[in-house]
Amino acid sequence: MNNPIAISAKSAEKFGQQVVSWYHLQGRKHLPWQQDKTPYRVWISEIMLQQTQVATVIPYYQRFMESFPTITDLANADEDVVLHHWTGLGYYARARNLHKSAKIMLNDFAGNFPTEIEQVIALPGIGRSTAGAILSLSLKQYHPILDGNVKRVLARSYLVEGYNGLSKFDKALWQLSETLTPAIETDSFNQAMMDLGATVCTRSKPNCELCPVEQSCLAKAGEQQMNFPQKKPKKKIPEKQTIMVIPRLRNERCDKVLMEKRPPAGIWGGLWCFHEIDELSEIDDLMTNLSLKALDSQTLTEFRHTFSHFHLDITPVIVDCQQLDNSKINEPNQQKWYDLHQGLSVGLAASTQKLLTLLKDC
Ligand code: ADE
Repeated sequence: MNNPIAISAKSAEKFGQQVVSWYHLQGRKHLPWQQDKTPYRVWISEIMLQQTQVATVIPYYQRFMESFPTITDLANADEDVVLHHWTGLGYYARARNLHKSAKIMLNDFAGNFPTEIEQVIALPGIGRSTAGAILSLSLKQYHPILDGNVKRVLARSYLVEGYNGLSKFDKALWQLSETLTPAIETDSFNQAMMDLGATVCTRSKPNCELCPVEQSCLAKAGEQQMNFPQKKPKKKIPEKQTIMVIPRLRNERCDKVLMEKRPPAGIWGGLWCFHEIDELSEIDDLMTNLSLKALDSQTLTEFRHTFSHFHLDITPVIVDCQQLDNSKINEPNQQKWYDLHQGLSVGLAASTQKLLTLLKDC
């Protein structure tokens, strides 16, 4: 068990001052979400930055804010349009939760972002650290934060044993963050801690000579940086198989494929994908259900898509077909023929995007 780490008020204050001074000299201040800081603008950036690097996020952030400049614009947008703005960023639950939260803010908070931390944590997709980051960065409220980067800085500075997700490790680090976060300039401190973790105290090549707390860092003192935090024990994740069927209508006038919108829950929830089957022998039944007559088929090379909790081996099968009866596919909200030569304005899973690219050569 990690005992609470004893830190005198004086050394906590010194740590805070060193980090804040570093922020004024070296911290990032010119990113798009650091201009005209409002809780809404900071919220969108924090959610995008959760699993994605700053450089990747910038163009997505700019497009998102242009399309949805206010909470009300986001709440009133069509889900497909919101997901389309997320295509390529991955972890689509983040986009669905943004949309749901905006609707809650429109209904319960007159279209405003709530300003009490408990109200913010109660929104879908916002945990304690993200809520603290939003309210401290945009409104200068006092809240400690603890994202993956901050955990690494603190675990090294104070030699806290354990790994991300282990509850005694997370608990010890929250206590540390509470002790060290200053009440004045909390925003600069929090931003600096995230920047330090992302750019200086990196996982595999920490740049200790650039760190403002190098002198007091216990890991540095014993050259133990690479042992903190410890690596999470690897679980072997299961392998699953699926067949994706790509019905295609192709002639001189058209080149279209049939896609379906996934149900809201589960993998790729709300995104547009191809129909899935378990066995090749199910293709005939699927074609019958879709009122299609198969003319020819082509099985493409299997490829793997890895989720956080399983590998999915996908075998794509293109089925060139004829339409027998159009009526059954006219559920435009659930199934659509997509013209391969026109851009799509809906959310696509990464594997669907990959297949659409492959289809250009088949
Ligand atoms: N990762 C999550 N939030 C961040 C922020 N505000 N700045 C830099 N990296 C981050």
